[in-house]
Amino acid sequence: MKVLIAGGAGYIGSTVASACLDAGISPVILDSLVTGRREFTAGRAFYEGDIADGALVDRIFARHPDIGAVIHCAALIVVPDSVADPIGYYRANVTKSLEFVAHLLRNGCSRLIFSSSAAFYRAGADLSVDEDSVIDPQSPYARTKAVCEAMFADIAASKPVRVLSLRYFNPIGADPKMRTGLQVRQPTHALGQMILAHQAGVPFVITGTDWPTRDGTGLRDYVHVWDLAAAHVAALTRFDTLSGQATAVNLGTGTGTTVRELLAAFNRVAGRPVEVREAGRRPGDAAGAYSRIDRAERLLGWRPQYDLAEGIGHSLQWAALRDEILPG
Ligand SMILES: NC(=O)c1ccc[n+]([C@@H]2O[C@H](COP(=O)([O-])OP(=O)(O)OC[C@H]3O[C@@H](n4cnc5c(N)ncnc54)[C@H](O)[C@@H]3O)[C@@H](O)[C@H]2O)c1
Repeated sequence: MKVLIAGGAGYIGSTVASACLDAGISPVILDSLVTGRREFTAGRAFYEGDIADGALVDRIFARHPDIGAVIHCAALIVVPDSVADPIGYYRANVTKSLEFVAHLLRNGCSRLIFSSSAAFYRAGADLSVDEDSVIDPQSPYARTKAVCEAMFADIAASKPVRVLSLRYFNPIGADPKMRTGLQVRQPTHALGQMILAHQAGVPFVITGTDWPTRDGTGLRDYVHVWDLAAAHVAALTRFDTLSGQATAVNLGTGTGTTVRELLAAFNRVAGRPVEVREAGRRPGDAAGAYSRIDRAERLLGWRPQYDLAEGIGHSLQWAALRDEILPG
C-alpha cells in the first residue's frame, strides 16, 4: 500500500514516513518546504508543492493510483506567529486544508488521517483530558485545528471519505535511527530550551512557578515522536475497523510531567546539571494537561513504548547530529 503524507518533510511527517517505510508501507511525500527539509525526503517519492495546488494533487494520484490513505500533517505551527498573523494562519491551515480535501475527494481518497492537536482542550482540575473534554482553543493556531476537525467531520458526514483526527500532545525525541528529528535550531519548548542551555552553559529559565500543579511549574504530556509515528502505522492498519465517519483519538502517554520533573530527568540523562533561573509566566502560557489514553489503546491497539528518559536521550543525540544532517 502507498500513503500520501502531506507535510512529510517536517518533523513529525518525516518520522511517520520512516515508520511507514519500516512497516512496508510506501510513503509519497507532498511538501512545500515552507518549514520542512529536503534532506528528509531523500530516497522517498517526493513532490514539492502546496496542498492547495489541485493540478499537483491530481498529478500525484495519476502517478500513484495505489495510494490507499492520506496523512495530513501540513500546517504552520508556531502559536505566537498565529497570534500576530491570524489571517495567514487561517489561510495556511484552514483554507488550504479545505482545498486539499476537495482535491482528495476528486481523486477518490476515502481515508484521511489528520494531524490534530491537544492544544485546544480545556483541562479539568486534575489536568487530565480525554477526547470528550471541553474544546476551548486559546490561540488562533489551536483554533485552526479545531476548525479543521469540525470541517472534516461535516464533509465526512455527506461525502465518501472517513476521517481520523489524531490529537498529539507534546512530541519529543527523534527517529531512534536518527534519520530525522526536529529541524529547527532554536526550539522554544521546554526540552529544546534545556538542550540549548546545556550546550551553551547558560541557565535554563523556568517561566512560571505559580501554576496549579504539584510543584507550581507547567505540566505537559511528552510523547516520543517515534511512538506518534507508530500510532499512524497502527491507524493505517486499523482504519477500516473504525466505526463512524469521523473519529478523534488522543496520542499522549497518560502521564503529566512538570517542568521541574523534566529538568530532573534531563539532568540525569545529560549527566551534567543545567543551572536554573526562575521567572514569571509568559503571556499565553497555560498550566497544561495530560491525556487519558484508553481510546488509543482500544481503537488502535497503541500504547507508547518509549519513556521520558529515552525521549530526552534521543533529543540530545539528534541535537548533536543536527547540523551535520541538516547543514545551513
Ligand atoms: N510539533 C508539535 O508540537 C505538534 C503538536 C501537535 C500537533 N502538531 C501537528 O503536527 C503536524 C506536523 O507538525 P510538525 O511539528 O512536524 O511541524 P513541521 O513544521 O516540522 O512540519 C510541517 C510540514 O508541513 C509543510 N507544509 C506546511 N504548509 C504546507 C502547505 N500548504 N503545503 C505543503 N506543505 C506544507 C512544511 O513544509 C513542513 O514540512 C502539524 O499539522 C501540527 O499542527 C504538531
